[in-house]
Amino acid sequence: MSDRKRQMHLGVFVLGTGNHSAGWRTEGAFTTSCSFPVMKNIAQTAERGKFDLFFISDAVVMDPGDHPSFTNRFEPLTLLSALSTVTSHVGLGATVSTSFGEPYHVARAFASLDHLSNGRAGWNVVTSTHDKAALNFSRQRLQEHDLRYEIAAEFVDVVRGLWDSWDDGAVVADKTTGVYLDKTKIRTLDHKGRFFQVKGPLNIERSPQGHPVIIQAGGSAPGQELSARSADLVFSVVNGDKTSAKNAYDSLKQRVVKHGRAPDELPILPGVMPIIGETDEQAKEQLARLQSWLTPTNALALVSQRIGHDISGYPLDGPVPEFPEKTERGQAFSTALLDMARREKMTLRDLYNVTAAARGHWVTYGTPKRIADTLEEWFTGGLADGFVVMPAYFPGAFDDFVDKVVPELQRRGLYRHEYAGTTLRSHLGLPRRDAVLRQAAS
Ligand SMILES: Cc1cc2nc3c(=O)[nH]c(=O)nc-3n(C[C@H](O)[C@H](O)[C@H](O)COP(=O)(O)O)c2cc1C
Repeated sequence: MSDRKRQMHLGVFVLGTGNHSAGWRTEGAFTTSCSFPVMKNIAQTAERGKFDLFFISDAVVMDPGDHPSFTNRFEPLTLLSALSTVTSHVGLGATVSTSFGEPYHVARAFASLDHLSNGRAGWNVVTSTHDKAALNFSRQRLQEHDLRYEIAAEFVDVVRGLWDSWDDGAVVADKTTGVYLDKTKIRTLDHKGRFFQVKGPLNIERSPQGHPVIIQAGGSAPGQELSARSADLVFSVVNGDKTSAKNAYDSLKQRVVKHGRAPDELPILPGVMPIIGETDEQAKEQLARLQSWLTPTNALALVSQRIGHDISGYPLDGPVPEFPEKTERGQAFSTALLDMARREKMTLRDLYNVTAAARGHWVTYGTPKRIADTLEEWFTGGLADGFVVMPAYFPGAFDDFVDKVVPELQRRGLYRHEYAGTTLRSHLGLPRRDAVLRQAAS
């Protein structure tokens, strides 16, 4: 570790209509995700705030009753490729599932984005949670939860192997000799695994970061194992409780060490929705206004989705039933939500109010100073290495964060004033990946 004061990392979770399900109803708020000017505004604001990462979620399914930004959205890599031309520093993270598609496509797409953006690409590896997505891919349902992760682990290994099928400097393009490629710097992968057979090499040269950044968000044991083994960044779910956040943070860092890696090699960034007001009271009123716009039907569907159990038949003012945390859909959100419901003795109505606000993520409100105090406490207390900021709506709530909270964090020496480098890896304090390890192993 260097003597330089540890600084936090910040990402922004981008939903054009806002992270609060009803955020788009705020006066002046953007009302769509499917607009280049909207996305450009958010990406350039992230860069103004010296953010590490602009982060796009995805699913290959739509349900008309879902969060508005999940019903109408860009294909992430297409969007990020376009954004790479109107930004210069902010990292560009896109979600792509390992339950559909092929590693070759994914390796190629992210290598392309890494070239187009001069080293700012990140891949959020997800295993998908909606059975309905399978219906769009000639299947009836998703594979079962743990098998999805076994597929994901091999998928990621193949993608990385393909990225390593080129060494730096393989394109010689010597006009005198007529040699275009140095063939000693390109190799096949010859992968024959349980789920994939991939010959290689990839048809694109090694990209600026060597490997685009790998992001992971799953919270179950196999999800954490994938993070500890293969990820460069984790996007986690917390419910605001410091003890459970500390336990989850420490346990994941211990797994990282078991894989022979240093704890700093895997920054952990919980999602947080900061509701910012000139006074704490004003921030609270803003949250209450947003909550008043929620419809009960949407909220119930969202809670059922997040905890993986259908709650529509249960009395709203009764206690939250004892559901198992491990479900076929996933565990990250069910654990955070059911743990909070038990601890705070919530009714189902309480739970749906909380869940609908930030779709199961942590919500905190107050003045810019109070928000900065909270983030500082979590960061210096070893509960987080930074945060994925989830503005309730855009552009206003994100502008407030960048213009009011970021300067406060900078004044405290907790956050950069300027980017030190131009790649996402450099923002995260991670080295460029070279192909030496694979070469040594082969
Ligand atoms: C913070 C967070 C963000 C996620 N974003 C996406 C996403 O954009 N698309 C998707 O298909 N799954 C997403 N997931 C789902 C996970 O990648 C994973 O498939 C799911 O959480 C089940 O795994 P688990 O049981 O390990 O939590 C996300 C999960 C978390 C916790």
